[in-house]
Amino acid sequence: MVAKWEWAGSPPPHGWIRRLRGAWVARRSRGGPLYADRGVKIRHSKQVVFDGPAWLKEGVLIDGRSGRAGRGVHVGSGVIIRAYSYLDAYGGEISLEENVQIGTKCYIGGNAGVTVGRNTMISTGVCITSAAHGSVICEIPFVRQSERLRGVSIGENCWIAANAVVIDGVTIGANSVIGAGAVVTRTIPSGVFAAGVPARVLGELGQV
Ligand SMILES: CC(C)(COP(=O)(O)OP(=O)(O)OC[C@H]1O[C@@H](n2cnc3c(N)ncnc32)[C@H](O)[C@@H]1OP(=O)(O)O)[C@@H](O)C(=O)NCCC(=O)NCCS
Repeated sequence: MVAKWEWAGSPPPHGWIRRLRGAWVARRSRGGPLYADRGVKIRHSKQVVFDGPAWLKEGVLIDGRSGRAGRGVHVGSGVIIRAYSYLDAYGGEISLEENVQIGTKCYIGGNAGVTVGRNTMISTGVCITSAAHGSVICEIPFVRQSERLRGVSIGENCWIAANAVVIDGVTIGANSVIGAGAVVTRTIPSGVFAAGVPARVLGELGQV
């Protein structure tokens, strides 16, 4: 399995771009155009910042609501978010560094902060959540119990394969691969393959 890998960073071919929607969206991009397909929605748009060209495929929803002034969701240059993914700052912050790719139907909740390093690929159906409700006392509805907030950090050039779940408090080191369907509950070091429920390190990745 390949461990280290540089993405060329060139934009996708023009055939991918179905529509360039709304000048108001383009204005939010500091360094280049924002290509948004049909049904893309950006809520609390003043708190959604694009560094450069980015591609938002059909039905993507980004909500920038955050207590942090001016920055609930930060989208780096060259980021691609595929159809029907939902990113919500939820009072915290989501930061996607350059060339991050998010697959279809992913969810990222930024409550305690989620950072995703450059060139990291997140496959379809991945759920990254940076909050949990108290779950010890059952007499109080869980929905009313206070949130525990720690944050999630995913390093650069990782691959989080399909339908994995990354829970709050987890750090994943650079150049690591998380297998499909894993539930990541503990910190994963750099340069490893981890999988399973809960995710365990199954091997180290080689250098190119
Ligand atoms: C990341 C991935 C490709 C790794 O596969 P791989 O390199 O072929 O891994 P290997 O076959 O060498 O597996 C090594 C060990 O890990 C186990 N393993 C592999 N993937 C696993 C997974 N998702 N969950 C649990 N165990 C897994 C294998 O059973 C094997 O165990 P063994 O040595 O006891 O037999 C694979 O886990 C995966 O997630 N595939 C889905 C890819 C995907 O999401 N595609 C969407 C489009 S981008």
